[in-house]
Amino acid sequence: MNIRPEHQALAQQLQDFRHDLHRHPELSNQEFETTAKIRARLEKEQIRIVDLPLKTGLVAEVGGLQDGPLVVVRSDIDALPIDEESGVDYSSLNQGVMHACGHDFHSSAAIGAAILLKQREKELKGRVRILFQAAEETGLGAPDLIATGALDEAKVIFGIHNDPTLPVGVVGGKDGALTAGVDRFEINITAKGCHAAKPHEGNDPIIIISQVIAAVQTLISRNVSSDNNAVVSITQVHSGNTWNVIPESAYMEGTVRTFNQPARDLIERRFRQIIAGLSEAFDAQIEFIWHAGPPSVVNTPEWVSFALDLAGNVGFEARRVEASPIGEDFAFYQLKLPGTFMMIGSGGPYALHHPKFRVDDRALFPTAHYLAELARHALEKLTR
Ligand code: NI
Repeated sequence: MNIRPEHQALAQQLQDFRHDLHRHPELSNQEFETTAKIRARLEKEQIRIVDLPLKTGLVAEVGGLQDGPLVVVRSDIDALPIDEESGVDYSSLNQGVMHACGHDFHSSAAIGAAILLKQREKELKGRVRILFQAAEETGLGAPDLIATGALDEAKVIFGIHNDPTLPVGVVGGKDGALTAGVDRFEINITAKGCHAAKPHEGNDPIIIISQVIAAVQTLISRNVSSDNNAVVSITQVHSGNTWNVIPESAYMEGTVRTFNQPARDLIERRFRQIIAGLSEAFDAQIEFIWHAGPPSVVNTPEWVSFALDLAGNVGFEARRVEASPIGEDFAFYQLKLPGTFMMIGSGGPYALHHPKFRVDDRALFPTAHYLAELARHALEKLTR
């Protein structure tokens, strides 16, 4: 993708900025240095920082010289507890922490968008708020930001995620559900331990947990209609520590992924019924803990079309993409206001959260430009 001569310097600065963030990644809710760097860069451009009670992350604002609506562009800033193996020369200097989801890319693109919007501030038909959201990886950064009231007047929100499965130069969009609702469950079984030779004297939690594992397989296959996609995965099971003792407890953990609220509610309800039934059947205490994460990202079709059309107009190839069972706390914003979350081709080949994950630098400036144009044209559309 070509970068116009007048934008070459900014493109280089954004790349340098991203590489610096990449070298110094910070985990969720600990993004103090990252926040300070973003703030300093914005202040250098005389971009307003909205005064909000946030521990980390920040919100910038451009526009307002003309009265008009408020449009929001969201980026995220946190990294992951992963040892980097990407081999890039700007690899992480914080051992065990890595920008393996490309949030350094998102926040650098958002800074670029803020700068580009600032250059055309007089033309903006309203205000644009640019979110640098903390703690996306916890799934709970967005609710904290929403609680500050920063989006109360907003009419539409745009978000992006880099997508290593798409080549650089492609923007992907999808009407309706794009990402999955992500819930986590834990199960603690308290039974009765005994000698392995005398199982009748105990209440074997390994037998019970194996029944739970089997019953959980029906949550989707015998409850959720074939029109719906959903996933239940059990990801760890622990019990016992030797060969001749029946233990007294067992533990398991896993995740549920769904693409709509009725399916999500149904699975949770049936899960609880199965656990209650097995607890009764085996005369054991089974504790069920449900950690509700973000719901599904559900895009507003009108804004998906708008964002795909605009992608085509600014030099991207616009594509319709499939839903993906990953989680994204952008979903919380969409419970409040319309908007769309777009996928930006970042070249691969390694998946998000992979230790060798990398983002192609060539995607950065075009993404900044795209975000700025999304906001500017959304204001035009809303005031037309
Ligand atoms: Ni991410």
